[in-house]
Amino acid sequence: MQLPESLQNAIEQECSAFSHEALRTASKQLTSLYQEKRASSVPFFQNAVARTAYLAVRMPATYAAIHRVLLECKRKMGVSPSSFLDLGAGPGTGSWAAAEVFPELDSLVLIEKSRPMAEIGQKFCREAETPFLQSATWLCQSLEDALPSSDLALLSYVIAELSPSQVESLMERLWEQASTIVILEPGTPEGYRRILKVRDWVLKRGGHLIAPCPHREACPMQAPDWCHFPARVERTRMHKFLKGATLGYEDEKFSYLAFGKDPIKTPLGRIVGPVKKGSGFVQFPLCTDGKLEKKSVSRKQETYRSARNSQWGDAWL
Ligand SMILES: C[S@@+](CC[C@H](N)C(=O)[O-])C[C@H]1O[C@@H](n2cnc3c(N)ncnc32)[C@H](O)[C@@H]1O
Repeated sequence: MQLPESLQNAIEQECSAFSHEALRTASKQLTSLYQEKRASSVPFFQNAVARTAYLAVRMPATYAAIHRVLLECKRKMGVSPSSFLDLGAGPGTGSWAAAEVFPELDSLVLIEKSRPMAEIGQKFCREAETPFLQSATWLCQSLEDALPSSDLALLSYVIAELSPSQVESLMERLWEQASTIVILEPGTPEGYRRILKVRDWVLKRGGHLIAPCPHREACPMQAPDWCHFPARVERTRMHKFLKGATLGYEDEKFSYLAFGKDPIKTPLGRIVGPVKKGSGFVQFPLCTDGKLEKKSVSRKQETYRSARNSQWGDAWL
C-alpha cells in the first residue's frame, strides 16, 4: 500500500520546512504521546513541527488501516455511499482513503477541532485530483456541535481522545445522522476495549454489524488476546529515517467496527490472526458464531485455494 502520489508530494512539501533531525525528535515525542492512554492530540498539534511529524509518520499508517477497513465495508455494503463525513479528521487521512475506495462519493464534510491541522488538511485537499476532495467542506468545530447527515461516517483514531460520555452522546447523534458508521482505533488492548464498548452499544440499539464480527454473540476473544488486524504500508526513505527503521514497510495494527441500520449477509467467519501456509495445508485462527477455532484446510478441500489466498483480517467465505 502506497499513498496517492499527490498526497505523498503534499506531505513531502510540508516536511521540507523542517530539518530531518527536528522531525525525528518530534516523531519520537509523537510515539510517546500515543503510547499514553487517552492522550489528546489537540495541544500537540499546536506545534508546527509536531503536526508535520504526524503527516510524515502517522498519516501513511492510518491511511493504510482506513483503506483496508473501507474496502472491507465496500464488499459488504449493499448500496454505494454518495456522502462522507470525516469526524476528528486531522489532515483528512480518512477522506483520502475514502476517495480511493469509493470513487462514486460526491460530497464530503470534515470536522476537525485543531485549526492549524484543519488548515493543512484544506491545503492538501486543494492539491488533490478528485473533485470530491477539492470541493470538501471543512468545519473547524468540536464533535459536540451539530453534525451534518451522511451516508458513511468515519471516526478514525479519535474516540481515544473523547470521554466515555462524549462517545455515547456522539454515537446517539451519529445514529440519527449516518447510514453506516466506521470506527478505527489503535490495535492495542485499550483500543480493542473501546471498540467493544461501542459494539455493545450498537447491539443494544438494534444496529447491524458489517465488519469485522461475523456474529452478534459476545466477543469470544479472551485476554491476553484481543481482536486486531494489520495493514501494511510502504515506507519512504524519509519515513525510515524518522522512525529509525530498517524495514521498507510498516504493519499498522488496528481494531475496528463498521455498522449500520440495515442487515447484511455476514460471512461464515473472520480470520483473526496470522495465516500459516504449509505444504498442502493452510491454518488460521477463525472467529465464527461467537466461537474461536483453529481452522485447518488441506489441499484436498474445495476451499483450499481460497485459504491460500487469504490473509489475517479477511472474511472467511
Ligand atoms: C489521532 S488524530 C486522528 C486524525 C485522523 N482521523 C487520522 O486518522 O489520521 C485525532 C484527531 O481528532 C481531533 N479531535 C479530538 N477531539 C476532537 C473533538 N472533540 N472535536 C473535533 N476534533 C477532535 C484531534 O484534533 C485530532 O486531529
